[in-house]
Amino acid sequence: MTISKIEAPKALIPEDRLQARIEELAAEIERDYAQTEKLIAIGVLKGSVFFMVDLLKRLSIPVAVDFFQTSSYGDSTEPGEVRIKKDVDISIRGADVLLIEDIVDTGFTLRTILDLLRFRGARSVKLCALLDKKARRQAEVPIDYCGFEIDDHFVIGYGLDYAGLYRNLPYVGVYEGET
Ligand code: IMP
Ligand code: MG
Repeated sequence: MTISKIEAPKALIPEDRLQARIEELAAEIERDYAQTEKLIAIGVLKGSVFFMVDLLKRLSIPVAVDFFQTSSYGDSTEPGEVRIKKDVDISIRGADVLLIEDIVDTGFTLRTILDLLRFRGARSVKLCALLDKKARRQAEVPIDYCGFEIDDHFVIGYGLDYAGLYRNLPYVGVYEGET
């Protein structure tokens, strides 16, 4: 059986820079939520998982963990319509919610989730995103904690995929094949 190794793309953000920035974000978050009674970190599957684990491991405040999974409607004529494929399990009423995402692109996904969390009565909702692809934004989303702003590249690694692959790369690279 032949197993071909995936071709490693060039690093846009190497592992040490990612980890150093995450350390800074964690320190900021820990400071901001020091007095919080009920903090829930909610990740958006699947891309946020790698970032979320590294970030939350650095917090010493108590935090509950949950997940959303979303997808765009493939055949929708309405641009930006987002479907919730997996909802959170725990009640967020009265909680301080920290939403964790790998990348904000058009912003439609986060806009939908932020609105939903507020509608459900979260006490506060803040967004922590590893990457911000600002040039592509169509829906306004304020990013409270941002790892890095990047240019309009299709990026992979550290949770981000192309066709379901490359998520396990320990760094963020630019996908250079056909998309
Ligand atoms: P948005 O709703 O357009 O902001 O899309 C956000 C989602 O699209 C992200 O959570 C990613 O899953 C995916 N996405 C956007 N840009 C990229 C990229 O450059 N690489 C991999 N996935 C991406
Ligand atoms: Mg995602």
